[in-house]
Amino acid sequence: MQAYLVTSDGGPDAIERVERPDPGGDGGPGPGEVLVSMRAASLNFRDTIVAAGGYPRNDSFPCVPLSDGAGVVDAIGEGVTNFAVGDRVVNTFFRDWIAGDPTEQEMRSSYGGGIDGVLAERVLFPERALLPIPEHLSFEEAACLPCAAVTAWQALFVKGDLTAGQSVLCLGTGGVSTIALQLAKAAGATVYITSSSDEKLERAKELGADGTVNYKTTPDWHKEVRKLTDGRGVDHVVEVGGPGTLEKSMRACALNGHIGLIGVLTGTSGAVNPLPCVFERLSIDGIYVGSRQMFAALNRHLSANAIRPVIDRTFGFDEAIDAYKHLQSGSHFGKVVVTIGG
Ligand SMILES: NC(=O)c1ccc[n+]([C@@H]2O[C@H](COP(=O)([O-])OP(=O)(O)OC[C@H]3O[C@@H](n4cnc5c(N)ncnc54)[C@H](OP(=O)(O)O)[C@@H]3O)[C@@H](O)[C@H]2O)c1
Repeated sequence: MQAYLVTSDGGPDAIERVERPDPGGDGGPGPGEVLVSMRAASLNFRDTIVAAGGYPRNDSFPCVPLSDGAGVVDAIGEGVTNFAVGDRVVNTFFRDWIAGDPTEQEMRSSYGGGIDGVLAERVLFPERALLPIPEHLSFEEAACLPCAAVTAWQALFVKGDLTAGQSVLCLGTGGVSTIALQLAKAAGATVYITSSSDEKLERAKELGADGTVNYKTTPDWHKEVRKLTDGRGVDHVVEVGGPGTLEKSMRACALNGHIGLIGVLTGTSGAVNPLPCVFERLSIDGIYVGSRQMFAALNRHLSANAIRPVIDRTFGFDEAIDAYKHLQSGSHFGKVVVTIGG
């Protein structure tokens, strides 16, 4: 079977396409295992970090890339009770983080980083690392969920305890932020979003954004967010920028606000004044994707509200490296997907 392999820290161009033994070829799935024919995988900013080396805790070469996949069950091993041949399934980001607070070992089990990922024609999963695909979603849409959507879910609903009527600020229009917008709107929140592109902000309005700010033409975007909220500030920030945005995110927050600290799109160094966090009684939670239990709760929310993740562009299996480059260009709105087999 065909798969892609990250063998060095040389970035997307160094990723190799290889022939690998079929994981179902040698006696089929073992006890508790499920063999899946992959149909789609999605890319996350994280996958560009893995390809360049230096992804914390989960950084071993060679490694099949990408954490987020969806496909069809081909065969099941002894003792598998939750899935049957032909079922449509999506995998969790962490193979071993089921529920509760994760252990160090569970955190080392991220697909496409710590362990081989899903950019392959067939993958063998333990039963616990799979969930049924919500009925209204395609394989491509389901493949958008394991990292970006579970992260947004944990930030807003698990750590943030978001309730109807609260306000949310999403930064940029990448994979995490667009699904965060959709999840929060469906829960009855008022949602503000920033982008470097007015055209993307128009698309965000179509998705339900109540207020938008262009962070390129309005560098003090936090002040604009305060204006949009009649000076109060927002209850939640989906913070994907890191040092270049964190202080402004704090200043965009209402008293007692919450920041889900998720990403480092602006890099990993730079001065941040923490005082607004103190004087506004803010809570900041570090978010690292989430557990299987969180993913299951997310799926119930998606089904109840018929939410479909936004796919910017779909690439064929042959074009996987182009998909990386498209993500790196930053021109996307929502998710970038690779289709597999079919
Ligand atoms: N902790 C976790 O578990 C976790 C999980 C998922 C992602 N992440 C992290 O979260 C970040 C986003 O990931 P992603 O997969 O959603 O990335 P992505 O899809 O590649 O999103 C990129 C988008 O972010 C926006 N952006 C870039 N610089 C920005 C800035 N200074 N201010 C506001 N927006 C900015 C841009 O939107 P516009 O084009 O609209 O300007 C860009 O298109 C990454 O750092 C990623 O590593 C962390």
